[in-house]
Amino acid sequence: MIDFMRKQLDNPLIASSCIATESTANVLRLAENGVQGAILKSCADYQRGKVEGKRQFAVDSKSYTYASSPFEREILTLDECLELMRDIRLQTDILLIPSFTASSLFADDWTPACRQLEQAGADGIQLDFFYMGCIIGRDGLTDSIVYLLKELVSAVSIPIMPKLNVNLPKDYIIPLLVKAGVEYVSLLDSVRSPYLEEENGKYRISSRLDTDTTSCFGSWQLPLTLSYTYTAAQSGLKVCAGGGITCSDDVKKLLVAGAAMVQSATFLTKYPEKGCDLIL
Ligand SMILES: Cc1cc2nc3c(=O)[nH]c(=O)nc-3n(C[C@H](O)[C@H](O)[C@H](O)COP(=O)(O)O)c2cc1C
Repeated sequence: MIDFMRKQLDNPLIASSCIATESTANVLRLAENGVQGAILKSCADYQRGKVEGKRQFAVDSKSYTYASSPFEREILTLDECLELMRDIRLQTDILLIPSFTASSLFADDWTPACRQLEQAGADGIQLDFFYMGCIIGRDGLTDSIVYLLKELVSAVSIPIMPKLNVNLPKDYIIPLLVKAGVEYVSLLDSVRSPYLEEENGKYRISSRLDTDTTSCFGSWQLPLTLSYTYTAAQSGLKVCAGGGITCSDDVKKLLVAGAAMVQSATFLTKYPEKGCDLIL
């Protein structure tokens, strides 16, 4: 048994925040196939306006997946996430971690939503900083991050779990999490990258996917995930590690590097009934 966020789990696999965790049916299907919990699709406290543009995907010759989507098509509203939480909770007691994102580091933009998610039955809350883009270099950044995290740690009684991405270099951010009293960390998010199409031996930047918002996912992430995992675990954090997992061997490596739990998005989106294959 694995103890994670006060739940006893049979194996170390949960689903990352992604398409596989944006509906009750998807989450229940994962749970029926051995996945122990879900980090729900990220939500934000906003009103959805008219949505222009589509959610799109492409896979290149190395099986790297590229995806782009307008924010309002991609991100749940807080109300949708609260509804999703309550609906899933009525049907199963798996580990449920909603993911919340905001566009600033002001505590007032995060605290009320985190309290509502706790009341709706969350076991913990992932903090998603992806949509802020690169914040390194902002005035007062270090103090803002530590202040925000300290506020959230004391505002809710369940664990908060910041999600790291490469715009937050590990040797900068991990000591700040520790300083703020954070216990759990989620990693590693995708990287923004233009999708290049190949034709007759030549590459061109594709107009199929929006260049500014395209994210790249794939096996290339694993060494980075291992590196962030090792550093975070050595610093005493409980790491929910994923990003680049393609098979059970990748899971074994992450656990040896110090992960307490592993998470998968791409694999479980493609193969929602094959979670067990990752934990052989
Ligand atoms: C279609 C798609 C949507 C995603 N949406 C979110 C999201 O809303 N919030 C989040 O924290 N991560 C999101 N991610 C990132 C994943 O949680 C994960 O960090 C990333 O895909 C790397 O893991 P993987 O190699 O298992 O795919 C998304 C990934 C995909 C493929």
